[in-house]
Amino acid sequence: MFESEDLNFWTCTSEILDRMRHGGGGVLCTVVDKTGKQNLLTLGWGQIGPFYHGNPIFIIAVAPMRYSWRFLEQVPEFVIAVPDDALGSAVELCGTKSGRDLDKFKAAGLTPVSSVHVHAPSILECPINVECRIYTSIAPPHMLLTPEHRQRPLTEQHTIYFAEVLGTYRWQMNSGAKECDHKGNQEV
Ligand SMILES: Cc1cc2nc3c(=O)[nH]c(=O)nc-3n(C[C@H](O)[C@H](O)[C@H](O)COP(=O)(O)O)c2cc1C
Repeated sequence: MFESEDLNFWTCTSEILDRMRHGGGGVLCTVVDKTGKQNLLTLGWGQIGPFYHGNPIFIIAVAPMRYSWRFLEQVPEFVIAVPDDALGSAVELCGTKSGRDLDKFKAAGLTPVSSVHVHAPSILECPINVECRIYTSIAPPHMLLTPEHRQRPLTEQHTIYFAEVLGTYRWQMNSGAKECDHKGNQEV
């Protein structure tokens, strides 16, 4: 039903960083737990660089108080789904509401798609999906964030996750599935 187009991660990095930097609105991060339940949240903190076994590295920071945190602890994978301008309200919803209270995919009108390398889903509407597998993490207390940060309760101090990038894709409806006959029926 869906087909993927391979993207070169390095050509996507300025778009990813523009979205993540202050004022950029953030990127989406999808997660899955060991029962297969999916969730997503908005992220603004992260780093990108070379290399882990030849793959790029994606570093994110997620606070233990987030519902998504226990997903990352159970299944050490995530997808960074980079929105375009049309998805501004979806990104805001995912950064202000918790998956504890609602299905954010439904509420934000986002379509989860099976990823290629990881169990965490990609997002059809996002033009860039970066599939990441965590290889190590650093739990608080640590010295990686600001001194002000270290004054906060431990549940508000972010765990830092280091992941390797396994693939970068854009998803679309299978071209056959998009063809409709004159009665509006979809060909398969
Ligand atoms: C622009 C923006 C950037 C954010 N960046 C982060 C971040 O880097 N790390 C984090 O833990 N939370 C971040 N948040 C907050 C979470 O997205 C927010 O608390 C979300 O509701 C958590 O969802 P969850 O409880 O379903 O996991 C950010 C929120 C916004 C709006």
